[in-house]
Amino acid sequence: MTAVVPARTSAELIGAEEPVLAHNYHPLPVVVARAEGAWVEDVEGRRYLDMLAGYSALNFGHRHPALIEAAHRQLDRLTLTSRAFHNDRLAEFAERLAALTCLDMVLPMNTGAEAVESGIKVARKWAYDVKGVPADRATIVVAADNFHGRTTTIVSFSTDEVARAGFGPFTPGFRVVPYNDLAALEAAVDETTAAVLIEPVQGEAGVIVPDDGYLAGVRELTRHAGCLFIADEIQSGLGRTGRTLAVEHESVVPDVVLLGKALGGGIVPVSAVVARREVLQVLRPGEHGSTFGGNPLAAAVGTAVVELLETGEFQRRAAELGGILREGLESLVGKGVVGFRSRGLWAGVDVDPALGTGREVSERLMREGILVKDTHGSTIRLAPPLTVTAEELQSALHTVEKVLARQA
Ligand SMILES: Cc1ncc(COP(=O)(O)O)c(C=O)c1O
Repeated sequence: MTAVVPARTSAELIGAEEPVLAHNYHPLPVVVARAEGAWVEDVEGRRYLDMLAGYSALNFGHRHPALIEAAHRQLDRLTLTSRAFHNDRLAEFAERLAALTCLDMVLPMNTGAEAVESGIKVARKWAYDVKGVPADRATIVVAADNFHGRTTTIVSFSTDEVARAGFGPFTPGFRVVPYNDLAALEAAVDETTAAVLIEPVQGEAGVIVPDDGYLAGVRELTRHAGCLFIADEIQSGLGRTGRTLAVEHESVVPDVVLLGKALGGGIVPVSAVVARREVLQVLRPGEHGSTFGGNPLAAAVGTAVVELLETGEFQRRAAELGGILREGLESLVGKGVVGFRSRGLWAGVDVDPALGTGREVSERLMREGILVKDTHGSTIRLAPPLTVTAEELQSALHTVEKVLARQA
């Protein structure tokens, strides 16, 4: 007979994690047990509006019916082959993803950091094979305050000491310049430069939107210098900013686009390097790979994600709801909000530090049924699923106003 284990409360589950889980996160004290659309429910049945959406991994909301159906259908047929064999889902995924992004070829991976690592490797290989940079001399220019993931190579060019300290020695070959500064970028690029790697909007830094003309300037500069433009759209891409890709706000097509997060529909980790043929065709069998990259379950969910984006509905929603978000935040400036930046349905909100840290404000919002995440200092990030309704968004903004007013 199996013993019946009584259900544990949120507090018990949080306490149970403490001795057995690495402390590399500091989650809000909420234990989610189920979710649907823009709403999640905790162990005790309390409901919260999810205004973080898994850092944009849940752009289509929790358990979008079309994505869940695609996953179920695939689970019943085939889940993994490895790339030792072909599978019958990968070609369609790659064709449709390349078409969606106006590029030619796809390298499927799993997590965002893996896509970034893969993009770096491909850029270096391209620099040696195509551009003719002498062996082991290739450089990649990146921006200060970047966030591209957590691997040893990626933290090597982070400017965040918390992300780096204790993890050296670091990978050489990167030059860091200020974000949103074309003159500094131009000065850093030379004949050894394989690529410029930037986020079109810096997410973790606090949703930093560059000046108009910056992305077009990076495109122009990299073309002129004969190096690649790699856009990390892992957080900014796939509808979040009101366009399929954030670079589209300046009608720019990079040489390489890195995708992740929402590409897996909030179901499975799916990432990809999408690039011009001249770039991705530098890879030969055996030079790069991943056991799970391009697996049929990932390809089926990824194809269903692309299908949702092909309708344009989510990009439209993000743009329209983004207007409501911006208006709402403008009305809060001076009422506990000292400033904000937004693009589409995505905002970094600087709360008056006198009212508390971003963490404290996030905890207060949680108690009022709104889930958000702080980033640095007193900044909170708002990135609800693109399926959120105007009423839900307005009600969340009203709660933010109430919470800040109470503290003022
Ligand atoms: C722009 C950007 N690149 C890369 C990553 C890393 O993605 P992952 O956490 O899936 O490795 C993130 C994650 O937040 C990101 O925002």
